[in-house]
Amino acid sequence: MPSRFDVVEQGSPIEVFQLTKLFTEDSFQKKVNLSVGAYRDENGKPWVLPVVRKMESALAADPTLLHEYLPVLGLEDFTQASVSVLLGQDNPVLAEGRTFGVQCLSGTGGLRVGAEFLSKHLKYTTFYYPNPTWENHILVFTNAGFTKPRAYRYWNSKTRAIDFDGMIEDLKSAPENSVIILNACAHNPTGMDPTPEQWEKIADVMEENKLFPFFDSAYQGFASGDLDKDGYAVRYFVKRGFELVCAQSYAKNFGLYNERVGNLAFVINDPKLVPAIKSQVTWVVRGMYSNPPAHGARVVAAVLKNQQLFDEWKDNIKTMATRVKQMREALRAELIKLGTPGNWDHIVKQIGLFSFTGLTQRQSEYLIQEYHIYLLRSGRINICGLNPSNVAYVAMAMNDAINKFPEDQ
Ligand code: LMR
Repeated sequence: MPSRFDVVEQGSPIEVFQLTKLFTEDSFQKKVNLSVGAYRDENGKPWVLPVVRKMESALAADPTLLHEYLPVLGLEDFTQASVSVLLGQDNPVLAEGRTFGVQCLSGTGGLRVGAEFLSKHLKYTTFYYPNPTWENHILVFTNAGFTKPRAYRYWNSKTRAIDFDGMIEDLKSAPENSVIILNACAHNPTGMDPTPEQWEKIADVMEENKLFPFFDSAYQGFASGDLDKDGYAVRYFVKRGFELVCAQSYAKNFGLYNERVGNLAFVINDPKLVPAIKSQVTWVVRGMYSNPPAHGARVVAAVLKNQQLFDEWKDNIKTMATRVKQMREALRAELIKLGTPGNWDHIVKQIGLFSFTGLTQRQSEYLIQEYHIYLLRSGRINICGLNPSNVAYVAMAMNDAINKFPEDQ
């Protein structure tokens, strides 16, 4: 019998997850996964943060915890603590009642809820994303009702630095009420953030043109190892008087990837508007997934609300950020040792999980096929996939790919 589903065409795979699957299925002994943005320890293994393990044991043993529904906007302890981590606990907007959070399904969920809210209630239609960006930004915003996706220049592949003039020019031509997606820190995929002076100029243009900042904060703590430093851009915009939203993810900095723990922070000028905004976000969430899961949010809330655990978490973050920095240095040193053509300083100048290596698509595909080193075709690598046992192998393979396809450089 014919099927009504025969109209369905095969969709394209999601590159980052397909690479992880290929890596898992690959039996080659020296295989390396530099694709998905997830932390790996010095043995190449996923790392459950010790503070998370500790909290999970405590939660499992707590007979008062039930599996009742959470409120639609999530666990209040969690959303309050999240906003305070993002903005700093002494930020005046907290006391002024001008900020609140909505528990969401990780950073992606925060982006989706925020975008749908802006589209439905503020009637915004245009969004700008950095080129390049995390590819999901575009899908999330268009699915949420935005109809006019626009790229702003972000990257100069020749200098391997931010194309700041291009960015400013594009923002200057953005129409009023455009939503501008800004990576709060550790830009994915380039690993290059604006300097404080550049943030100031970005804010000037956005204020002048009445553009709306939508921050994506997926790596707080990973850029510098310091939560406060990594909160700089969002805090600066708040200080300048912007109203904004920010999607926070705890996937990376708490290692809670599959628990989908995130927060959507709102900062608004008039605290009297908070109840109405909350009531409408409630309906956005209700129509999407009704209410959020509890486990990950309980872990995060317990850690953020207890000074000793909070300090332990900060140490765990430092451990991860320090290892990433060491691996950047190690990769650069190996490439230099091999005399690999090109300048490799950008690897240590970039921050966060990723390096936008400058490897071309052809070179990247060669690394996958020939060396079983999995990376995005854009040349983005997850630095955490490197460790003392494989960094020389990866450098040797990169050196080979670059020498084999020099015309691509
Ligand atoms: C990444 O960029 O690798 C991660 O954020 C995973 C994802 O969902 O793409």
